[in-house]
Order: sequence, then structure tokens, then C-alpha cells
Amino acid sequence: MSLSLSLSRRLPAIAAALAAGLLWLAAPQAAAFPVRGDQTLLPQGSDLNEEALDQPRELFHSEALGGRKSYLVNLGDLAFSAPTLLGGLARRAGMSCSTCHRNGVSNPKLYISGLSSRPGNFDTTGALFNPAADNGVLDPVTIPSLRGARYLAPYGHDGRMASLRDFVHNVIVNEFAGPEPSPAILDAMVAYIQDVDFLPNPRLATGGRLAPAASAAERRGEALFVKPFPHDPALSCAACHVPSAAFVDHRQHDVGSGGLFKTPTLLNADFNAPYFHDGRYGDYGKVVAHFDRFYALGLSAEDRRDLVAYLDAVGDGQQPYIRDGLAADLKEIADFSSVLDTAIPAHDAPIITLAVETVGGELRDMTENFPDRKDTTVDGGVEERGLARAALKELVLGLRRVEMAAAARDFDAAAAAYRDYGERAAGLPAVLRRAEPWSLYNVAVHDAHYAALRRMLQAATKPLR
Ligand code: HEC
Ligand code: HEC
Repeated sequence: MSLSLSLSRRLPAIAAALAAGLLWLAAPQAAAFPVRGDQTLLPQGSDLNEEALDQPRELFHSEALGGRKSYLVNLGDLAFSAPTLLGGLARRAGMSCSTCHRNGVSNPKLYISGLSSRPGNFDTTGALFNPAADNGVLDPVTIPSLRGARYLAPYGHDGRMASLRDFVHNVIVNEFAGPEPSPAILDAMVAYIQDVDFLPNPRLATGGRLAPAASAAERRGEALFVKPFPHDPALSCAACHVPSAAFVDHRQHDVGSGGLFKTPTLLNADFNAPYFHDGRYGDYGKVVAHFDRFYALGLSAEDRRDLVAYLDAVGDGQQPYIRDGLAADLKEIADFSSVLDTAIPAHDAPIITLAVETVGGELRDMTENFPDRKDTTVDGGVEERGLARAALKELVLGLRRVEMAAAARDFDAAAAAYRDYGERAAGLPAVLRRAEPWSLYNVAVHDAHYAALRRMLQAATKPLR
């Protein structure tokens, strides 16, 4: 789920962890601190950025066309958020694909000590999650956005795999030591990834050309983008970043960044900084300066500004972030549980288990957004918060009944338990909305809560430094 909502944090649990000496701040970056109890399993200083309030907007191709997501896409989305799909430490720490590819976009602050060299990058060939994957060097790469991935083969920054299915299989089994996924789950994850769309960008017209409203600087930038390079007339920016083909050419090139890497898309790239495979450049200005240097383009300061203005227009997207975390979480829970509409009549016990465990985890995470009465950082709404927590807990129990019946292969009882769950779930939004003002979905409450948590961690950690 949007980790948005997996803000689960319990001051008492953290206090207990502190008391046990499990947890302290020795972070390479001051802001990093473990927020969930299970994150204490990760190396100190790691940060999954779970407390972020703004979440990237996830747009589905099928929904944009006015339809509904298919069973397969919902199942893939569910699996993408399921820690049980991975193995070893990742599973124990509650990580899933969406920990890094949040809502299908990169999590720019993800930091795993020892495997990241800066927030937003990660070494997929390190020993922590699967000792067998270790290549012995720290070579972290940025977490790519999966928007428009269906247009962006081959996969991996180095483009090492032509097939998305092979890539996903490799991530699960080799990078994160997960059990062999079933063909149905793999198909579903591929369907999900292929349904994650680019955000619409009104600044572009068809064929990747600038829209009529473009500024003069953007137009000059577009002209430079398609202009042959002075020393390599067969090359231009557009020769690799083909505007009519999502700004890619599906090939790998050595552009002086340390090896062969695939041409990345420039669509929605305004939200994908830092740039290049290793995240070495924080903004477009530095990227343009790199190409100017590498291909000896002789660009003037104005040329560089124009190219940046053009990249900015090409990389834009409508409403990149969403704020209403509660609505987004409720929709996600509804979409995830809808998998049971199909899995129960199909008597598909493994999928039922996956759905129950994953939705149950999301509901438990959501509960943490409604602090209980012991939490002194939140004032008021004690009764409303209590009702919200109770309603969420009831739903988790309701799902358990579905799973128990399915495990006993009594699918009629599972269907009945699921109907019961559906009735309770229908009343959930109203109960949560009433408690929302005193929940972590409220910015003021959220900020006060985290400020208190930070103070507490700092006070508790001082003697250790
Ligand atoms: C700890 C962070 C992390 C987790 C967890 C993670 N990924 Fe990734 N993902 C990355 C990084 C980093 C890359 C770039 C890897 C590379 O270039 O080799 C990547 C690349 C990808 C790509 C290639 C995109 C492209 O355009 O080339 C896909 C697809 C993908 N991941 C899917 C998944 C799936 C599915 C899961 C869960 C099974 C997952 N990832 C879990 C960090 C993560
Ligand atoms: C020979 C093919 C080629 C040409 C020519 C080329 N690029 Fe690229 N571009 C790439 C590759 C490959 C990368 C990825 C490099 C890496 O990851 O280390 C890249 C990366 C980028 C990025 C960063 C995107 C991201 O998400 O990291 C931008 C922006 C960009 N190019 C713009 C341009 C501009 C502007 C020009 C012309 C001045 C240009 N490119 C010329 C192949 C090319």
C-alpha cells in the first residue's frame, strides 16, 4: 500500500526498543530514523521514508481509459505490496516492492545503511538481503520510476533484461531471496507494472512535440534537442531520446557515465531526480553540462538554460502528488480486497492467504495512524480514535475468518465470512473520517507526533554517542 499509510509507529514500542538498546541514532544523515518497530531489523540509520504525507499519484492505464482495473492488475498490485513475496531480512523487516517503488514511482528518500550511498539509491548486488547476490562492491543505483514501464524495455539501468517477467522473477528470487513465485503471481505483477501509466502532460502534444502554448525558451530548447551534434552529426539528443517513442531508443550507450546504460525516458522525469544510473546529478542543469562536456557541444549559457527549460516541459506531469492519504488508502484496501471476489469462488487458497495477509498488514498499519489514548502527542478525539482502531481491528479479524475457512477448504464458509467482512468494510470510511482530525492523516497532528518522536529518540540516544 502506499507506505503512506504504513506509518505505523507506536511510541511505547519504540520506547521499549530503546530501552532494550536495540535502536539508536548514528545516522549518516540527521533525518534518518527508524520509524517502525520492525525497521530495527535493518542496519542503523536506514530510512524507509514511511512518514511522508505526500504520495506520488499512481495512474492506471485501465482506469484512465474509463474502465476498471482487472483482477490480474489488482492481484499484481497486491503482490507488489506483499512482504511475504520476498524472503529473508526483507520479509522480516516488512519490506515489499512498494517500499522502494512507492505507488510505482521511486521512493526518493529510501536509505539502507551499507547499501545506499545517498537517499534514493540502493545496491541490488549487496549481501544484506541475499548473500548469494553479493558482487563484493558497493555499486548502488537509483530506484527507477515504473511509470510507463511497458514502453521502456529493456529493464535495469544497464538494460540487461529484455523481459519484464524475467526481471521481476530475478528481483524476487535472487535479489530478495524470496520463494519461487507462482506463474499466476508473476503474470499479475507484470500486468500491474504494465498498467502504471505516465501522468498526462499538457505541455506536450502528440509525437512528443511541444504543445502550442510552449514558451520561446522551451522552443529554442526543442530545436537544440533535435539538432545534430557538431562533432557527431549522426547524433543528437533526440537520436537517443526519440520524442515520438517515449523519449527512448531501447538501447544501451556509453555516454561517459562509467559504462553502458539504457537511454532513460524523459517523460515525467521532473519527478525522478537525482539523475543518471547512480544519481550523480541533482538537476537538469548538471545533466546538460555533462552532455555539453562529453560531446563537446559548445553550448552557450543561454543554450543550456533553453535545454533545461525544454527538459522541464517534457518531464512535467499533471498532479504528481496526492495529499488525501485516507482516501487513497481506503481505495487501495478496497482494490486489494477485491482480489477475494475472484479468489474465493475459484477456491484459490494461496491467493486468499496472500490477500488476507497483505490487506491485514495494511489495516494494521492504518491503525497506527489513529494513535491510541496512551499517545500523549495527540490531544482530543480519544473516543473517535478508539472507534477507528476498533473498526480496523474487527476487519483484520474478519479477514482471518476468511483465511481460516479457506485453509480448511470450506469455501462456502469463506464466502460467508467475506460477505460479512464486506458489510463491515462498507461502514469503515465514515468511522475513520470522524477520527481523521486527530489522526496522523492530519498534517498538524502528524508533524507534532514526529517532532515528539524525534525528541524522544534524541534524548534516549545521547548517552550512546
Ligand atoms: C530496496 C529497494 C527495492 C526493492 C525492494 C525493489 N526494487 Fe525494483 N529496483 C530497485 C533498484 C535500485 C532498481 C534498479 C536496478 C538496476 O538497474 O539493476 C530497480 C529496478 C526495477 C525494475 C526495472 C525498471 C526499469 O525501467 O528498468 C523493475 C521492473 C522493478 N525494479 C520491479 C521491482 C519489483 C517487482 C519488486 C518486488 C518484487 C522490486 N522491484 C523491489 C530497487 C528496489
Ligand atoms: C548516445 C545516446 C544519448 C544521447 C546523444 C543523449 N542521451 Fe541523454 N541519456 C542517455 C543515457 C544512456 C542516459 C543514462 C546515463 C546513465 O544512467 O548513466 C541518459 C540520461 C539523460 C538524462 C537523465 C535522465 C534520468 O532519469 O536519469 C537526461 C535529462 C538526458 N539524458 C538528456 C539528454 C540531453 C538534453 C541530451 C542532448 C544534449 C542527451 N540526453 C543526449 C543517452 C543519450
